[in-house]
Amino acid sequence: MGLILELTHRCPLQCAYCSNPLTLDAPKSELGADEWKRVLDEAAALGVLQVHFSGGEPVARRDLVELVAHASGRGLYTNIITSGVLLTEAAMASLLAAGIDHIQLSFQDAEVAEADRLGGYRGGHAKKLEAAKRIREAGLPLTANFVVHRQNVDRVEAMIALGEALGADRIEIAHVQYYGWGLLNRSALLPMPDQLEHCTAAVQAARTRLKGVLTIDYVVPDYYAARPKACMGGWGKLFINVSPSGKALPCHAAETLQGFTFPSVRDQALADIWATSDAFTRFRGDSWMPDPCKSCDRREIDWGGCRCQALAIAGDAASVDPACALSPDHDLMRQAIDQARDASPALTPRRLAGV
Ligand code: SF4
Ligand code: FES
Repeated sequence: MGLILELTHRCPLQCAYCSNPLTLDAPKSELGADEWKRVLDEAAALGVLQVHFSGGEPVARRDLVELVAHASGRGLYTNIITSGVLLTEAAMASLLAAGIDHIQLSFQDAEVAEADRLGGYRGGHAKKLEAAKRIREAGLPLTANFVVHRQNVDRVEAMIALGEALGADRIEIAHVQYYGWGLLNRSALLPMPDQLEHCTAAVQAARTRLKGVLTIDYVVPDYYAARPKACMGGWGKLFINVSPSGKALPCHAAETLQGFTFPSVRDQALADIWATSDAFTRFRGDSWMPDPCKSCDRREIDWGGCRCQALAIAGDAASVDPACALSPDHDLMRQAIDQARDASPALTPRRLAGV
């Protein structure tokens, strides 16, 4: 279904909830334009439908326009996932000419000073507002993505109002997923129960009010769930994620899993990686599942949840996702919320140099 190209880990922002790994790929290790083009060719031949240019900040790549044109020429649906701060008028015009189909623009908050503080980029919010206007003026569909957590979730109504005012077709209210930098900063970011209740009610009220006008997607935090999400729609089932240096990964956090060698698109064809590599087949389907997943009637709905979360929380990637109430480790999620309750709000910003 989808190919996610993390073109670069470079980014002008420093969001403490970033799901990129703590050890980011150095700029000199990034694939070159010709290598990315070959990956796009292989993806099109494999039957991939959509390509998501991501990062880091994909607009930081000087050859982004060239890559979008190449993907578009291969019949792939093209999406850019961007912070918008580098999306100048000239960049927008070139991307449009290259055939871009969709842009997802992320926001840190609806309140200017807080948005700039959380993104670690003064003036960033104003640039995003300009970028949103350009996207709409270009006639492209706009998804406004708001990542919410303890330090901004109380302003969810203002975020929805901002998305509406910008003319978004779709608003995403996405609670932080705790991987990479987000996991490092978890205690400062996890929402408290009353905040989650307020946010969920606000989203439901807005969905009713805006029915038929725009769509609101809502991603809830796993720490409050009774059943896990079908992470990536199932391991090795719908997506291939390629890191800036060319590692093919079943999900963005897969590099945290020990005991895996992730194949490089520099050395191996995408079709081989997809069909035969240990990295993509080990947790595919349900034959790998432990109890109680293997006899559970939800096993082909959530595919046992998230392997990276199972490792991060329970210490074993092959165990039941602790987000599931049937997991013997489920209580660890509640303990994380308890620990976060009185934790310091200080955040460690995401930096290329690491922690
Ligand atoms: Fe999903 Fe496994 Fe929990 Fe069943 S036991 S709901 S398959 S995580
Ligand atoms: Fe890796 Fe969920 S993020 S399986």
